[in-house]
Amino acid sequence: MTIDALPDAALVHRAEDPAGPWWRHAVIYQVYPRSFADASGDGVGDLPGVTARLDHLAELGVDAVWLSPFYRSPQADAGYDVADYREVDPLFGTLADADALIARAHELGLRVVVDLVPNHTSDEHVWFQAALAAAPGSPERDRYVFRDGRGEHGELPPNNWGSIFGGPAWTRTTDPDGTPGQWYLHLFDSKQPDLNWENPEVRAEFEQILRFWLDRGVDGFRVDVAHGMVKQAGLPDWDGHVTMIEGTDDADAVSGSGNHGPMFDQDGVHEIYRAWRTVLDEYDGDRAMVAEAWVEPLSRLARYVRPDEMHQAFNFAFLAAGWDGPALRRVVEASFVANDAVGAPTTWVLSNHDTVRHASRMGLSDPTHRPNGIGQGDEQPDAELGLRRARAASLLMLGLPGSAYVYQGEELGLPDHTALEDHLRQDPAFFRTGGVERGRDGCRVPLPWEGDAPGLGFSPTGATWLPQPAEWAELAADRQRGQAGSTYEMYRAALALRRSEQLGAGDLRWLDEDPHVLRFANRDVVVVANLGEDEVALPEGTEVLLASGPLGGTAQAPTVPAATTVWTRAQA
Ligand code: GLC
Repeated sequence: MTIDALPDAALVHRAEDPAGPWWRHAVIYQVYPRSFADASGDGVGDLPGVTARLDHLAELGVDAVWLSPFYRSPQADAGYDVADYREVDPLFGTLADADALIARAHELGLRVVVDLVPNHTSDEHVWFQAALAAAPGSPERDRYVFRDGRGEHGELPPNNWGSIFGGPAWTRTTDPDGTPGQWYLHLFDSKQPDLNWENPEVRAEFEQILRFWLDRGVDGFRVDVAHGMVKQAGLPDWDGHVTMIEGTDDADAVSGSGNHGPMFDQDGVHEIYRAWRTVLDEYDGDRAMVAEAWVEPLSRLARYVRPDEMHQAFNFAFLAAGWDGPALRRVVEASFVANDAVGAPTTWVLSNHDTVRHASRMGLSDPTHRPNGIGQGDEQPDAELGLRRARAASLLMLGLPGSAYVYQGEELGLPDHTALEDHLRQDPAFFRTGGVERGRDGCRVPLPWEGDAPGLGFSPTGATWLPQPAEWAELAADRQRGQAGSTYEMYRAALALRRSEQLGAGDLRWLDEDPHVLRFANRDVVVVANLGEDEVALPEGTEVLLASGPLGGTAQAPTVPAATTVWTRAQA
């Protein structure tokens, strides 16, 4: 059967003009600056390190780079605690280094997206310091969420909310005379006080911050905790459990990635994004925003990407589906239904700096499990199986129309560091849960660039702020470059084909009903992902364009083994 003759029922998503705005189909590479490349030699990555390695990303074939925060910060949450939104932290360099990075990226044809953290500041931000010094009820305190405590002497927190990192979401202040004072809200660490987005000064300030970076030439923003800025009026108690990483036990199998409760996904957030959209639209060059919003179901998430709001939202439901055919198929379908309804591109993501890397997750006995970190004494992933599935999942993702996110190192097939010693951990989630949650350090280990160099070439001195697993040497970029069959070369080939075949702006038609085989056509490419146990036969004479692993069968009649994805040429 030719693709054109397929019944319309199989059509899930229509192709669009590949000449449309870049963010509708871009592959965006996440750089986690402290772990990408270190130029200064102190063992922490920095902006000059990123700039020096941008060639790697251009060669890989991505369209854009998103940088996690590099602003001035005490680093209580690895930079997601910002003390000055207009300064670069000395750990990462200077503003001139940021300018040089943006300029070099643009020279190489790469767009630059920066992180914006509007839900909270650092407690070391001048605003919070002023708030602490000011009296209850003052304009300084009104920029944050200060409340009197409950109980006879205000000794109890204002409500029962918990921090996403563990423990209570409130910390009590001490007044200048040494007596206990009001409490302030922090959905994350106590060093990350939540801003009060009802305050017009807060809104005005962030519009200025947007302009500051737009004027410096950035192409967009990744908006941190985009679903959290507005809280339900009255801050009512809530008995649910907030978490960013673990799924809910909801019957809503399409996602399982959401946050519920009076602190998340309130209607008021949309007004903020509408205002920001008008700011971005004043600038030329298709500037864009992507929401980090752990919201479900997907139809609810799509409200963030209505035509006058953000451009994209991360699709955590896809990440949460793990290695599970029926779940992935449902998410793919539901994603297009939800996003097409508002005219937004669908996005895809498998790994990031908050989640165990997919090469490790998918090697667990339950490949849909998403622990918050893996450490000594925990179930250790099957590395070989994890990598096989991860490569197959990546080829599946890159074959889908829409925009895809690649987390630094996944192009090398990196697993997490799953045996990191606890005394080296730095994630506040580890400390705030008393070690019950290992936290996110395992996915944040400095990248291996050169297999034979000290620190695997991450830093000129060999220093690395977290140790790298010994087995990473063979995964180093220089060992994989030019090696047929390496994960790096698979990504590079996939990105080249994705571009030449215009798959990002492509369509999607299911070609198979089997829940464990995702077989679909995207323009003239047929993607077959085998998530089942049995080999899947390909039609005789199939032209194989790319495969995530060795194929079975014969050259004339190849088969797709379990945990393998192939891209083939659609037969006329
Ligand atoms: C986001 C970031 C995460 C950070 C948190 C608080 O979820 O991705 O790394 O800890 O927000 O800013």
